[in-house]
Amino acid sequence: MAEDSMDKPFIVTCTAPVNIAVIKYWGKRNEDLILPINSSLSVTLHQDQLKTTTTVATSRSFQEDRLWLNGKEEDITHPRLQSCLREIRRRARKRHNDGDPDPDTTGLSQKVHICSVNNFPTAAGLASSAAGFACLVYSLAQVFGVDGELSAIARQGSGSACRSMYGGFVQWIMGNRDDGKDSLAHQVEPETHWPQLRILVLVASAERKPIGSTSGMQTSVQTSCLLKHRAESVVPRRMVEMTEAVRRKDFPAFAELTIKDSNQFHATCLDTYPPIFYLNSVSQQVIHLVHRYNKHYGETRVAYSFDAGPNAVIFTLQQHVPEFVRVVQHFFPPDTNGEDFIKGLPVKHAALSEELKQEIGLEPIPRGINYIISTKAGPGPRVVEDPSQHLLSPDGLPKKL
Ligand code: DP6
Repeated sequence: MAEDSMDKPFIVTCTAPVNIAVIKYWGKRNEDLILPINSSLSVTLHQDQLKTTTTVATSRSFQEDRLWLNGKEEDITHPRLQSCLREIRRRARKRHNDGDPDPDTTGLSQKVHICSVNNFPTAAGLASSAAGFACLVYSLAQVFGVDGELSAIARQGSGSACRSMYGGFVQWIMGNRDDGKDSLAHQVEPETHWPQLRILVLVASAERKPIGSTSGMQTSVQTSCLLKHRAESVVPRRMVEMTEAVRRKDFPAFAELTIKDSNQFHATCLDTYPPIFYLNSVSQQVIHLVHRYNKHYGETRVAYSFDAGPNAVIFTLQQHVPEFVRVVQHFFPPDTNGEDFIKGLPVKHAALSEELKQEIGLEPIPRGINYIISTKAGPGPRVVEDPSQHLLSPDGLPKKL
C-alpha cells in the first residue's frame, strides 16, 4: 500500500436519536459508572425530526484525539467522554486478543477525530446528551469494529444515552451489580409497534437550563426522602404497568402513568433541598390545558411529560393531533400563524369549537411557546452510507467550521 493511502483516514458517520422518558431516571447509586437508583422507560423519537450526527475518523497521521461539537472545538479530556473512548478501545483490544480471525482493528492504536452536530438546540432540555453520547459510542464502535452490547458504554457517557441505543420503546434496567454489567437498556417494542402514537415537543424556551441533570440529581439523592420512596416503592410497580400499557397499546393507561411519573419527578425536585424548579409558568399552563382538554372529552386523549427543563413533550394519538395543536396555538398565540410554528410531521388543519375554548378557559400567553416539533417513535442509531454526509474532510478537519 502506498504511503499516502495508508495515511488516508478511515471515516464513519452515524446518526442517533433523542429519547423521552415516560418513567424517569433521576438519581445515581454510582457516579463514575453512572448506575441509577431506579429503572426507567422511554420512547425513542424519530430521527427525521431530532437527531445527532457524528463523524469519527482515525488516521496514523493524527497526533491526538480531537473533538468538535456543533462547529466548535471542545476539550476531549472530559471524563465521561474519556470513559466511552477507553471502554471502546478496551473492547476492541479484547476482541483482537481473543483471536477474532477478522477483527476490524483499523486504528486500534490510532488517534481519533470526532465531529458532532445536533439538528436541534443544544441544552434546551431536549436530551441532547443522550443522542450525543449514543451517537459517539455507536460511531466509535463502527470505527474500531466493536459489536455486541453497546448500551453499557453509552450509559457511561450519560445515563439516559443508553436508552438512545435502541428504537421504539426502551427500558433501562437498573441492575444490582457493583460493576454495572447488568445495568443495560433493552428494547420493549420496536418503533413500528404503535404507529398511531404521536409526540409533540412544545419548545418553550431555547435557553440553557438552570441546573443540569447531573448535579440536580446528586442533590436530590442527598436530600430528598420522596426520591428514596419513589425509587424503592413507586417505580418498580410503574415499570411493570408501563411495559404492559405499551405492549397493549393502551393509551389511557400509558398517558396516566406518563403524567403521574413526570409530576412525581418534579415533586422530587421540589422536595430537594434547596429545591429545584424546572417548570415555569408556560409549563404550568400546558399542564392545566391538558387536564382540561381531557376532562372536556371525558377521557385521557393527551399526556405531558417534562424533563429537566420547561419544554413539554406531549403524547397523543394521530387522530387528536390537529385539534390539540390548534388548542396550543390558541392558548399560546405565536407571532405568526404561519407554518413556522409547526415543524416536523405535517399537521392537518382543524376547527376549534367555542365550547372547548371556553371549557379550557385559560388566559392566553402570547409567544409562550416558540414552536412545536411534531414527531413519532423512531429507530435507533444508524450508519450513514453516503460519504458526502461526512462532517470531517479527508484531512480529518471539520468540513465547515
Ligand atoms: C430528567 O441522563 O442527562 O431527562 O446521567 O448525569 O448524564 P446523567 O443525566 P441525564 O439525566 C436525564 C434525566 C431526565 C430523565 C430521563 O431521561 O430519564
